[in-house]
Amino acid sequence: MAEFDKKLDLLHLRGQWQYDAQLIQLTDGPIPAGIPFLWSRELAQRALAEMCTAVSGDTARRNFTFINPAPDVNGTTQTIAMGMQITLPGEIAWAHRHSINALRFVVDGSPALYTAVDGERLPMEDGDLIITPAYTWHDHHNESAKRGVWLDILDVPLMGYLRQLFFEPFGGSTQPLHQDAANHISSRASHIRPAWEAQQCDRIPFRYAWSDVRAALATHQHSPGSRFDGVILRYAHPVTGGPTLPTIDCFAQLLRPGLHTERHRHTSSAVYYVVEGEGATVVGDEELEWSAGDSFVVPNWMWHSHVNRSGDTPAVLFSATDAPVLEALGMYREEPHPSFGIASGPTVPADLARRRSAERP
Ligand SMILES: [Fe+2]
Ligand SMILES: [Fe+2]
Repeated sequence: MAEFDKKLDLLHLRGQWQYDAQLIQLTDGPIPAGIPFLWSRELAQRALAEMCTAVSGDTARRNFTFINPAPDVNGTTQTIAMGMQITLPGEIAWAHRHSINALRFVVDGSPALYTAVDGERLPMEDGDLIITPAYTWHDHHNESAKRGVWLDILDVPLMGYLRQLFFEPFGGSTQPLHQDAANHISSRASHIRPAWEAQQCDRIPFRYAWSDVRAALATHQHSPGSRFDGVILRYAHPVTGGPTLPTIDCFAQLLRPGLHTERHRHTSSAVYYVVEGEGATVVGDEELEWSAGDSFVVPNWMWHSHVNRSGDTPAVLFSATDAPVLEALGMYREEPHPSFGIASGPTVPADLARRRSAERP
């Protein structure tokens, strides 16, 4: 058989039997990509500070990505890259656009820190979420007297895997801003919009103000919420009502004091940032202990639950997932723990089962 496999190999062919041993490992679903991991606030702050001396603001954007320690993942998850960026007073991160969908969640903001998106100035105050959908021109400006820090979350590993990367510099460090609000795409695509023109595309510049999101969490804080996520709110797209971006959906969730959510798993992967409080997320056998300012990753198809360790203070998490990609493909799946169905699946044919047990270390 090995000789025949070699023969096929030379012809650029492969027999189905070569896959069977791998397929038989998948009766409990996909093998997760990457591992659960946490980057502490202290680690990130130190790297940001050192980046300010190591990287000149004139030549490069000061951004790092949280790279999953597992070798099979080229990002934070197999589809999402989360990172942090810092700009010093007076600096500009130069204008460009790309096929990558991106968003910014502000860590250290100010009304004078802003992102220009397709000619609109979107202020970046603490906790604000700014979306820069694929092909929107964007540049970042720090006109404040203090440093500006935000999380960048992008679908770059997915676009890279699909070989869909397009990138275009604007040609100058900044794009001109529309002075007349009538020219703003966001005003022409809002709930009250011009009736004399066709609906604008769904790639609109948009800012979700943290003051609105935090107030909404407070409004719902006594609602039953989700068994698995507590009081969790979705950043719905302002025009479509669908996911925040075509490939990424964002959430803010409040875990009441002392809450320990039930375990579940889903085919989507997720990246998290801790906005308030302290607790833990248990992923598989790992316990990721977190507090405000920490970032962590929950890989796809791993059992997980969240714990708020405090008896009197709520915890608030911001998260982004690749669920819209899986939903578009009809592949989104979620299971509560204990799972139903898995244990009662059909048995593996005896010869394959023997091979599987022989291959186990
Ligand atoms: Fe960009
Ligand atoms: Fe989850």
